[in-house]
Amino acid sequence: MASQVFGALVIALCGLCHLSNGLSVRIEPAQRELLVAEGSREQLKCIVEQHMSKDDVIEWTPGNSDEEQRSEKMNSDGTYTTTLTLTIPSFSAARETYECSVKPVGGGTEGQSAILLVMVKEDKPEPVFYFGNETIELYCTTGLTEAKLKGWFKGDEQIEDGEKYKLNSTGALKIMKLDRDDAGLYTARYDLTNQVNKTYDCIVEYKAGPLVLDMDKSINKVEGDSVDIKCEVKGWPHPEITWLKGKEVLKEKSGSIKFSPNSEVANATLTLSDLEYDDAGTYTCRAYTKEFNETNEKSIKLRVKDKLEWLWPFLGIIAEAVVLVLLILFFEKIKKKGDRWRGRVVSASDSRSGGRGFDSQPCHVAVVLGKQLILNFPSPSTCKMGTQLQAILEFVICACNILHMGQKLPSKLY
Ligand SMILES: *[C@@H]1O[C@H](CO)[C@@H](O)[C@H](O)[C@H]1NC(C)=O
Ligand SMILES: *[C@@H]1O[C@H](CO)[C@@H](O)[C@H](O)[C@H]1NC(C)=O
Ligand SMILES: *[C@@H]1O[C@H](CO)[C@@H](O)[C@H](O)[C@H]1NC(C)=O
Ligand SMILES: *[C@@H]1O[C@H](CO)[C@@H](O)[C@H](O)[C@H]1NC(C)=O
Ligand SMILES: *[C@@H]1O[C@H](CO)[C@@H](O)[C@H](O)[C@H]1NC(C)=O
Repeated sequence: MASQVFGALVIALCGLCHLSNGLSVRIEPAQRELLVAEGSREQLKCIVEQHMSKDDVIEWTPGNSDEEQRSEKMNSDGTYTTTLTLTIPSFSAARETYECSVKPVGGGTEGQSAILLVMVKEDKPEPVFYFGNETIELYCTTGLTEAKLKGWFKGDEQIEDGEKYKLNSTGALKIMKLDRDDAGLYTARYDLTNQVNKTYDCIVEYKAGPLVLDMDKSINKVEGDSVDIKCEVKGWPHPEITWLKGKEVLKEKSGSIKFSPNSEVANATLTLSDLEYDDAGTYTCRAYTKEFNETNEKSIKLRVKDKLEWLWPFLGIIAEAVVLVLLILFFEKIKKKGDRWRGRVVSASDSRSGGRGFDSQPCHVAVVLGKQLILNFPSPSTCKMGTQLQAILEFVICACNILHMGQKLPSKLY
């Protein structure tokens, strides 16, 4: 009697636990049978929803704890959803069933699900693009007797027969007028005639080494601007991009240096924000492809102009005008004071002419005076002012010569 009551209680409890327990075990990809290429890397996810305890054992058989990853989250009703991902690095068995089961801490099995992996032997080339190649033929056949070629795809786009691509009745795809952009993943999609709406994708990887297209020689920017330097990179698999300034490898820096993708190639756009004068320099985009151990790079020169750049020529012009006016005033004085002025200058500053010949050229006096005057003029940018100085001096000599044309100096000065 007591045992009957106990039995009924257990049954009742069990019924209760089943009632409150919507536990589901499912596998992704959601297929009973999965066709996988020989040697391919596969990932199977076992998703257990609404299990009661965090400590429930969830396992893959066959399994390998090194290749499994468990993640769990708690639901609002206090149950858990756990995902156990199994990675098969290289599938090599002809067929193998993988089973995922959930075992509560108390023992027994609470739920399970399984998937059958069937190996497909593919026959395909491993083509590599080299500069100068003109055409290539790709094919990808499977050992599946029930498979019928549906078409070729590059990315998501179905390839049409035409000038660029020739579809052969044997199932091969011929690509004409090759360039590096033709490298990439090509898929021969097969319909599995024995299973409704199921396809098998046979993938050919057409590889190409890295190539960086020429960039502009230089870019001119003004302090405070920002600039996007885009690197056009070819090659498959996509090369890894490194940016260099001079010989130094650049790192991202919030607010000033940012990397972003350029047409699918990660990090191929360099953005420099809030440019400073020091940001000027040579920037290099370096593309590296591990598969080929090959590097290709191109550089661009960035010039950063001072925000006040326009001001210096402007100041220069004003300075020129001021100097000219001063010189003319001086010159007038020299003309008026004549002999005395000239004599003083000769003895005071001209050793080169040895006091001779100098006086015969009054213009030189003005220039010497002018030079001292101008050289003391505060110049914001010495080298630029240097050329302006020269221009001024030449102008002064010229003006001076014209003024004194035909004017004879008193002979007593010799
Ligand atoms: C591509 O070019 C390389 C080097 O020139 C050559 O070895 C290779 O056979 C060519 N491939 C095709 C498909 O023409
Ligand atoms: C298909 O490919 C085979 C072998 O490459 C070739 O002999 C044949 O001419 C091709 N047929 C067509 C229609 O291109
Ligand atoms: C197969 O695909 C077609 C079109 O995509 C769809 O209308 C049909 O319902 C599918 N059949 C099955 C059994 O999934
Ligand atoms: C892009 O740059 C970041 C930061 O330097 C780096 O962590 C990441 O690995 C790069 N990505 C690729 C695909 O090279
Ligand atoms: C890649 O090439 C460089 C020389 O170009 C060589 O020093 C290095 O050992 C190579 N690396 C690998 C992994 O082959």
